[in-house]
Amino acid sequence: MNEHIERRASRLSRLTETGRGTAMGQLLRRFWQPVAVGRTLEAGTAQQLRIFSEDLTLYRGESGRAHLVGSHCAHRVTLLSTGWIENDAIRCMYHGWAYDGTGACIDRPAERDERPCNIRIAGYPVHEYGGLIFAYLGEGEPPPFELPRKDVFEDPSRIIYARSELWNCNWFQMVENSMDAVHVSFVHQKGRSGNFIKVVSQAIPELEYFETEAGIRQIATRGEGNVRVSDWTFPNNNHISIPGMEAGDAWIDVGHWNVPVDDEHTYRMNIWSTPSQSPAVDERITAYFRQAGAYDPSQHHDELIVQGRYPADHLFDLTSAQDYVAQRGQGVMADREHEVLGRSDAGIAFLRRVFTHEIDAIAESKPTKIWTKLREAAVLPEQVAAH
Ligand code: FES
Ligand SMILES: [Fe+2]
Repeated sequence: MNEHIERRASRLSRLTETGRGTAMGQLLRRFWQPVAVGRTLEAGTAQQLRIFSEDLTLYRGESGRAHLVGSHCAHRVTLLSTGWIENDAIRCMYHGWAYDGTGACIDRPAERDERPCNIRIAGYPVHEYGGLIFAYLGEGEPPPFELPRKDVFEDPSRIIYARSELWNCNWFQMVENSMDAVHVSFVHQKGRSGNFIKVVSQAIPELEYFETEAGIRQIATRGEGNVRVSDWTFPNNNHISIPGMEAGDAWIDVGHWNVPVDDEHTYRMNIWSTPSQSPAVDERITAYFRQAGAYDPSQHHDELIVQGRYPADHLFDLTSAQDYVAQRGQGVMADREHEVLGRSDAGIAFLRRVFTHEIDAIAESKPTKIWTKLREAAVLPEQVAAH
């Protein structure tokens, strides 16, 4: 490799590597991140969880509070998720050591020693929001839980549904897709044109990108009256709105988070939110959310990528399958050294510049930008249409 290519390769790999020792890994840990769907964790149960290449135990105490602690017991290192929940503590099944939600060891029954010990495993703050369990894996006190919030994800009059997928590819190519409005015109007609592309249309958009106090605002204009605004929040959330299932249905707000499990796997966490309309419509939409929420295109890899068979559904399953084929088709790790960017990749270049600025600051121990919730909510297409 010549020196120029080597420099470019190492610059690009800084965007994709998220282990604790990396600049990106440190940057991402400064933000609250969704790590699980709340309803999949019943009170009194524990499960293994891997996030940012770190193995952890996620459990819900009998009080209903969720907790996130290290994966293995400090004693003789068996898996903690196989233990018992007692009140809000987790007890190891091997010799009974117990830990509270901060990871502090609070009981070692066979030691016959009542004095407090200072043994601890990792423990991270948790906050539930919009049906997702968020965690803060950074150093020190977590920031207030503000940046991920959107009115539509917390309005009790709306139908709100959280769910997740687990894709076998690097997180950054999934984040880049959020800044690639052109993909909509092509990717979302593959296999079949569903409701999404029918309404957005296949016209090639004119693109604009602006940095905001929260992230990046993307505007894709496909002609008069067809202006698609999306509201991307640093470092990995995209808030978009998409047409509903049937003509006349309200549009659906979608919050997408792409969260690294490790550098080769990524959770695609979503909150879906749509206004309540009438009891019959609400029931139909709720049933649809439940059914579509269970679809994960990574479970249909060969069917999609080898056989080119797309799901019958016309909205979420189809859209997700189409996105999966494009992004997973880039490989587990997209080969950015051999890509050929053009004018239409303005959003990708913009995104990489924003991240590079931040990880340079981390590497040089300089302050990073303080990203804050938008002072005024972005006006996404459905809201424009209603005016
Ligand atoms: S390994 Fe957990 S108590 Fe011994
Ligand atoms: Fe897409």
